[in-house]
Amino acid sequence: MSATSFDRAAELRALDATYAGVRGLVASGVTHVPLIFRVPDQHHEPPQDDIVFANQEPAAIPVIDLACADHAAIVAAVRRAAEEWGFFEVMGHGVPEVAMTAAMDAVRAFHETDGGEGSDKAGLYSREPARAVKYHCNFDLYQSPVANWRDTLYLRMAPNQPEADDLPDSCRNVLFEYAHQMKNLGNTLLELLSEALGLKPSHLADIECNQAQVLLCHYYPPCPQPELAIGTSRHSDGGFLTILLQDEIGGLQIFKGEQWVDVTPTPGAFIVNIGDLLQLISNDGFRSVEHRVLAKNIAPRVSIANFFGTHIDPTSTRIYSPIKELLSDKKLPLYRETLASDYIKHYYSIGLDAKTAISHYQL
Ligand code: OGA
Ligand code: NI
Repeated sequence: MSATSFDRAAELRALDATYAGVRGLVASGVTHVPLIFRVPDQHHEPPQDDIVFANQEPAAIPVIDLACADHAAIVAAVRRAAEEWGFFEVMGHGVPEVAMTAAMDAVRAFHETDGGEGSDKAGLYSREPARAVKYHCNFDLYQSPVANWRDTLYLRMAPNQPEADDLPDSCRNVLFEYAHQMKNLGNTLLELLSEALGLKPSHLADIECNQAQVLLCHYYPPCPQPELAIGTSRHSDGGFLTILLQDEIGGLQIFKGEQWVDVTPTPGAFIVNIGDLLQLISNDGFRSVEHRVLAKNIAPRVSIANFFGTHIDPTSTRIYSPIKELLSDKKLPLYRETLASDYIKHYYSIGLDAKTAISHYQL
């Protein structure tokens, strides 16, 4: 009998029924990674030392100082980073350090409260698309082949701000403030990205790339056998733009030049990455790049991913297609048009996986 013949669905349901996620498993003292979390052998990458690279890339993503006085230099750096890497870090972003630390502390504290029947966490435990505030262990638990060693608090902050009472008490004020800070930084970045595409600064905001805003507050508990599990499976992000804050633990990697490159934590910086929908409307001008998070056994890891344009309002009728100013006789559209909400629905139906959702829209 193969290892896959165990009753996977029953084990997934049993995990859900704890209302305590992976953190609950770890708190109960598991010493082995349960089968539902085991990365299948064929998913293991060959050791990186065995691969010969003709062109060694520098193993660090670009860092851009937004406080730099030379605006044209910032735009040029954003263009290069978005074209070549799809990922960059920003410093000099103006978000107060206290807002960053307070948000990370609140997320950590939420995840470290006990779950279980009757707990606050149990009341929030849901994957219901209509719910704006929810907590769960893997949004795609029943779709994806491998459960990820991660729990998430999900907050949809825009287009409609949730009721304050719907947020956990410990997080309410700091996460509203954090979302406000992210909205401002997101607008700055969309202006820079518009300019980097040769468009007027307001272009991407005018077409509502920032209409929907979702915070995914992730918690990666320490894993007793990190080599057998994965924190977040390889994927590209579905929306337009992501701003990520990670703590000092590490584990985030991007797939660049046929190898996994570590995104080592830089205190005080945000990581910015291009999502599939921005790749689509920029007609491959900008790239949405695959990334993943390794499981670690040293300590829990906390990250907050702010998505713009993901989980777009299902009633929105806005159609997205390659921006016509970017097309010419020599630059034909590479993608067909899509409702943003259809794209996200399609993305969700697959679950986290290698970058495949966008190919469905390729011409
Ligand atoms: C994501 C993601 C990375 C992280 O939420 O899409 O890639 O460091 N998160 O948690
Ligand atoms: Ni991601």
